Amino acid sequence: MLALLFFFSIAWAPAESRGGAGAACTDSRSSSFPFCDVSLPVPDRVADLVGRMNLSEKIAQIVSNASGIPRLGIPGYQWWEEALHGVAESPGVKFAAPVPSATSFPQVILTVASFNSSLWNKIAQAISIEAIAMYNAGRSGLTFWSPNINIFRDPRWGRGQETPGEDPLLSSKYAAYFVRGLQEGDYDEGTAISTMQRRPTRLKVSSCCKHFTAYDMEKSEGTDCFHFNAQVTVQDLQDTFDPPFRSCIVDGQASGLMCSYNRVNGVPSCADYTFLTETVRNSWGFEGYIVSDCDAVALLYEYINYTTTAEDAVADVLSAGMDLNCGTFLLRHTAAAIEQGKVTEAAVDRALSNVMTVRMRLGLFDGNSGETYNSIGPDAVCTREHRQLSLEAAEQGIVLLKNSGNVLPFPRNDLMTIAVIGPSGNATETMLGNYAGVPCQYITPFQGLQEYTKGVVFEPGCKDIMCNDTTLFLAAVRAAENSDAVVIVVGLDKDQEREGLDRTSLLLPGYQQDLVLEVSKVAKGPVILVVMSGGPIDVTFAKGNCKISSVLWVGYPGEAGGKAIARVIFGDHNPAGRLPMTWYPQAFAEHVSILNMHLRPNTSTGFPGRTYRFYTGENVYEFGHGLSYTNFTYTNFSAPSNITARNTVAIRTPLREDGARHFPIDYTGCEALAFKVVAYISNTGTRDSDHISLLYAIPPAASSSLSPPRKQLISFKRQHLIAGRCAKVEFDVDTCKDLGLTNEAGTKVLVHGDYKLSLGDIEHVISLTLLS
Ligand SMILES: *[C@@H]1O[C@H](CO)[C@@H](O)[C@H](O)[C@H]1NC(C)=O
Ligand SMILES: *[C@@H]1O[C@H](CO)[C@@H](O)[C@H](O)[C@H]1NC(C)=O
Ligand SMILES: *[C@@H]1O[C@H](CO)[C@@H](O)[C@H](O)[C@H]1NC(C)=O
Ligand SMILES: *[C@@H]1O[C@H](CO)[C@@H](O)[C@H](O)[C@H]1NC(C)=O
Ligand SMILES: *[C@@H]1O[C@H](CO)[C@@H](O)[C@H](O)[C@H]1NC(C)=O
Ligand SMILES: *[C@@H]1O[C@H](CO)[C@@H](O)[C@H](O)[C@H]1NC(C)=O
Ligand SMILES: *[C@@H]1O[C@H](CO)[C@@H](O)[C@H](O)[C@H]1NC(C)=O
Ligand SMILES: *[C@@H]1O[C@H](CO)[C@@H](O)[C@H](O)[C@H]1NC(C)=O
Ligand SMILES: *[C@@H]1O[C@H](CO)[C@@H](O)[C@H](O)[C@H]1NC(C)=O
Ligand SMILES: *[C@@H]1O[C@H](CO)[C@@H](O)[C@H](O)[C@H]1NC(C)=O
Repeated sequence: MLALLFFFSIAWAPAESRGGAGAACTDSRSSSFPFCDVSLPVPDRVADLVGRMNLSEKIAQIVSNASGIPRLGIPGYQWWEEALHGVAESPGVKFAAPVPSATSFPQVILTVASFNSSLWNKIAQAISIEAIAMYNAGRSGLTFWSPNINIFRDPRWGRGQETPGEDPLLSSKYAAYFVRGLQEGDYDEGTAISTMQRRPTRLKVSSCCKHFTAYDMEKSEGTDCFHFNAQVTVQDLQDTFDPPFRSCIVDGQASGLMCSYNRVNGVPSCADYTFLTETVRNSWGFEGYIVSDCDAVALLYEYINYTTTAEDAVADVLSAGMDLNCGTFLLRHTAAAIEQGKVTEAAVDRALSNVMTVRMRLGLFDGNSGETYNSIGPDAVCTREHRQLSLEAAEQGIVLLKNSGNVLPFPRNDLMTIAVIGPSGNATETMLGNYAGVPCQYITPFQGLQEYTKGVVFEPGCKDIMCNDTTLFLAAVRAAENSDAVVIVVGLDKDQEREGLDRTSLLLPGYQQDLVLEVSKVAKGPVILVVMSGGPIDVTFAKGNCKISSVLWVGYPGEAGGKAIARVIFGDHNPAGRLPMTWYPQAFAEHVSILNMHLRPNTSTGFPGRTYRFYTGENVYEFGHGLSYTNFTYTNFSAPSNITARNTVAIRTPLREDGARHFPIDYTGCEALAFKVVAYISNTGTRDSDHISLLYAIPPAASSSLSPPRKQLISFKRQHLIAGRCAKVEFDVDTCKDLGLTNEAGTKVLVHGDYKLSLGDIEHVISLTLLS
């Protein structure tokens, strides 16, 4: 049941006509009804529409494959579309003439490594244009279940690749800029999220923040995400798991939210009134629709016996505030649930109003008159601009992990011979990662390098990513011996990490590591190790190995990934990306259970904590790591050395035993405590390059009883810097939001004491004085 929907085995339902699947109000059956009148406010139109439906018609609208209502001139609508990094295969999307392909951008984990919020926004805009082109051609709906903004909590998670990484601030910014791009359009880096305008009524396409909440494990240690009950503290929920969702809704103004498969502290997310209604609707002011993950409703009854009847499962999710069932469970059991008095028709009306409001905001009830985007045709897909943007995203994200002796970039030399080795040396589909569509055109690493010199040969060394035997080693070794340089492309693919599959090891699969070592032993010139993966890999063996001069992490770099890799290797793009997640050693996977949801370390159990904010163990590479082909220095750092808060931040709590004074923040008076951090950044090397500034806050020692993060990213900025020049870098710091810490009760507090700001190798003390 579950697996069926889960792996997209559903046949695609053909569109009714050109002008898009699901457009109503196009004929005489409906066009005279008030719900088709574009001059009326959307809520009035929705009320009119809901008032015309009988109960069985209503129920058939709150499932993902919504039926048509011929008597009202309303066609069926398939809600399930995906567009994580380009329009992707999904039940509502069909790649076929006249739109056989779509631009495939790098997997999100790499795009995020660019720390370039206008890039994220531009990618989403490009995706929305291609989505509308497909819709206009009858090849797609307009409700996309992207982005995936769960925190990349454990390095083994098979879907970590789909996410913006492990940091709540970075994930929050990604969510907001991506959603705005998909639903609206232009928001560049200069647009501070806090000043983003309120949502417009008309949506280009609809974006959906998923999976709410604490969903970050597929199938591990004898359980899976369907059966897993995530034990999460209120503190971790408030300062780690939930912030990206809050931002996705409040700053991004997303029109959709997906509740997850798992339970959180005993309650399935889709049946949690506190989460869906109190937090999301009432506290965050969400006005869109809440959809279940696919078959997450059936799961309550059929898989985990959370309810004893099917009707109770229906009642639980509708009463909690869920609006749309991906699957058919509500279609089958809602009428009986109402008959048995377990849930009211009013709950169905609420859900129906929420889903119809989104369809209406998408222009699906505007007939032919309101089709703002009607003119977008198949020629808007796979344009030169979009493919160029995909290439730029890969280049901007690629992280230079190691470069001893400045071996990279290679000099331009037509006569240079290069051996491209490794199972991903000529990768195509592997470059896309999870949730992909049909790309416009691949450029593999082998092909990318051939653009630079004719003497390039390819030897895979392994049959596939599993690399179960060494029979192909000899040919690879021979190729290395006979070439001026070696580029070895190793890593993972969907056989190692994907939806439904977590890793158990952080090492390279099979004999891949042996291949790298064998080849580097005999190579006569430089050896460049290129790691293609979503999740981090323990590459300790390469870090200290002087035969391997350079290491690049290229994520899953998208359709033009091979060209991006070659351009970085030859210095046509100077790498500036930074890791959006911690690279843990293999020991982490051996000692830490993926089922332990805690972020904070526990000394009594030896649990080392998770992510750069809390992890106390050794790193292979840390969050934010990334080298350059040039050098940067910060000077003239300026920030206040003290801040005094006087009666501005709500009630003072009693002095605690540890002497720490903690003030709960009510956010009145916070403006007065805002300040600027200014510094100058000089490019002291010989190459022009982008540079990413990461500003962290380090909490005061006096806050130790709150087990605060070791440090917290509070702002970031990517800039282009000409060699030999310097530029100003400026950050706005909101004392309450950025220096506030979350206590055990989940409340954000300010702490009296010395905070530190850290930027590059500068550390600056800032004293916070709290007066009552
Ligand atoms: C609702 O209307 C449909 C026609 O769209 C009809 O087939 C069905 O019998 C009606 N159901 C009820 C409960 O009246
Ligand atoms: C969607 O529902 C229609 C009937 O309304 C049916 O013909 C079609 O097969 C269904 N599609 C899927 C994917 O279940
Ligand atoms: C659910 O209940 C049924 C019947 O009561 C039982 O056979 C089944 O084992 C239970 N499943 C789980 C996961 O507890
Ligand atoms: C590299 O991949 C391309 C695209 O799949 C393919 O056409 C070509 O034959 C491959 N080359 C080698 C040497 O395997
Ligand atoms: C490789 O080895 C793994 C485990 O050792 C095994 O599950 C898999 O089937 C093997 N694959 C091939 C292609 O031989
Ligand atoms: C640490 O683990 C122990 C044993 O599981 C538990 O009793 C204790 O509450 C944990 N401490 C924290 C701070 O989570
Ligand atoms: C950056 O500076 C360090 C120390 O001065 C030097 O060793 C290194 O080669 C420089 N890197 C580049 C890319 O110029
Ligand atoms: C940086 O500070 C120095 C003095 O320490 C001053 O001479 C210089 O003008 C300042 N540079 C900028 C760009 O403000
Ligand atoms: C607080 O900072 C201001 C300037 O930022 C400085 O003039 C003042 O002396 C400082 N006060 C204390 C008590 O450090
Ligand atoms: C951010 O990305 C966009 C799109 O590729 C690019 O035009 C812009 O220059 C980038 N910003 C920086 C500072 O690199």
